[in-house]
Amino acid sequence: MRISVIGCGYVGLVTGTCLAEAGHEVICTDNDPERIASLKAGVVPIYEPYLDAMLAANQRAQRLSFTSDAGETVRAGEAIFICVGTPPLENGEADLSAIDDVARMIATEARESKLVVEKSTVPAQTGQQLKRVLEVYRRNGTVQFRVASNPEFLREGTAVEDFLHPDRIVFGVEDEVSERQLREIYRPILERKFRCSVHMNACPATQPPTLVVTTINSAELIKHASNSFLAMKISFANMIADLCEKVGADIREVTRAMGMDQRIGPRFLDAGLGFGGFCLPKDVQAFIRLAERSGVDFNMLKEAERVNKRRIDLFFEKIRQALWVVKDKQVGVLGLAFKANTDDIRFAPSLDVIRRLLAEGAHVRAYDREAMDKTSALFPEVRHSREPYEVAQDADAVLILTEWPEFRELDWARIRDSMSRPLVIDGRNLLDPSAMVEHGFEYYSFGRHLEISATQFMPVPIQRVSAASAPA
Ligand code: UGA
Repeated sequence: MRISVIGCGYVGLVTGTCLAEAGHEVICTDNDPERIASLKAGVVPIYEPYLDAMLAANQRAQRLSFTSDAGETVRAGEAIFICVGTPPLENGEADLSAIDDVARMIATEARESKLVVEKSTVPAQTGQQLKRVLEVYRRNGTVQFRVASNPEFLREGTAVEDFLHPDRIVFGVEDEVSERQLREIYRPILERKFRCSVHMNACPATQPPTLVVTTINSAELIKHASNSFLAMKISFANMIADLCEKVGADIREVTRAMGMDQRIGPRFLDAGLGFGGFCLPKDVQAFIRLAERSGVDFNMLKEAERVNKRRIDLFFEKIRQALWVVKDKQVGVLGLAFKANTDDIRFAPSLDVIRRLLAEGAHVRAYDREAMDKTSALFPEVRHSREPYEVAQDADAVLILTEWPEFRELDWARIRDSMSRPLVIDGRNLLDPSAMVEHGFEYYSFGRHLEISATQFMPVPIQRVSAASAPA
């Protein structure tokens, strides 16, 4: 099928490339001409595993193309996927102006009837507005627009794999033709009949995706409700971690056993610095605003957001308690991206931590294998190191702010020997506390191995693992 994609951000690029990989003929546009020029030259402006190779292969096979001509893009596709950004406004509501612009553009540029698919994350009832705008602005009375919602559940860092092997695919539709057309588009993925470049055709034998067909309003709500629930799950785990520190329990033991209950599930129970990125924080806010506007008391979500903001305060308390005076201390930062396997720093917890360190007069050196180009523009006073060992040289503390697996594999004995003081504060619970103590580090993390006073069972404000108190 001929498919148009409007918006070449991470959702648009992954959607366009994966639909081309599934065998469709895809044309993509964006209102940033530089982005289009770079994509035409095969340069992908974001780091997303597998995306660049897959994009290049589909360009070569002439299934995927890019153009700055939005009108041409609208006219080319039988189905048009809207993948533009919906960033937060000052009040937390989603800014839908890009969706409105695109809808008016589609209405005026289309010469034939089209299926218009909302892929961008939008609040419930946006589909109704979209239909109205398409109707009101269309130039040609014979052109019909059908609207559908097809929310994405892609995680940055595994987005290509998530698109090709999803748990579920949701169609929010109001007519049979739209449903049929969407089934046709997703048939290769639903039936697993495509050449999978992620697994070189040796895909894991998991269940094929479940197709869920709903109304447009339900589909829109499914997306916001899913992200908000994940955010609440993380905040819940973080509260348990705080409690673990107070009562002398271990968060990994608690969440591991909790997660074995199929009703709970093991994922998204990792405690630490909390959730960042461009999706969870903004979607929680937009969902809160939607609930408020709809007269529904969803204070639970506000609490999840509050708990998340407090993670940075708690982390900084750990830093202050360990370092005492932060001013003039040499602090090495490992990890800047909001999570591993991405170069995205939007709403990354690292940004708040670094801002506070600089405000208190610390000297900061940082390393991240993908995100440093972005943070060096933001923090010219931070020295960015080309390799992780450099950040530890003569440092008074090393902080882990992103869960890059490569940090586990570092030569920690070498790091210890190069530091002024062997102190590691792990904001992602990435390292093994006992191993770190064996290496001779003073090591702090969230919710693990509380030091209990020898004389009484007294909770202490922060956990501290020393060689003397480490478990055998
Ligand atoms: C999120 C959702 O997981 C996707 O399903 C959704 O499609 C996407 O938003 C979106 O709306 O586009 P993403 O923003 O890529 O995906 O990141 P997540 O994997 O959800 O992680 C979000 C944040 O939570 C990260 O900062 C991560 O470090 C943190 N996190 C995650 C935890 O602190 N603990 C956990 O157990 C899991």
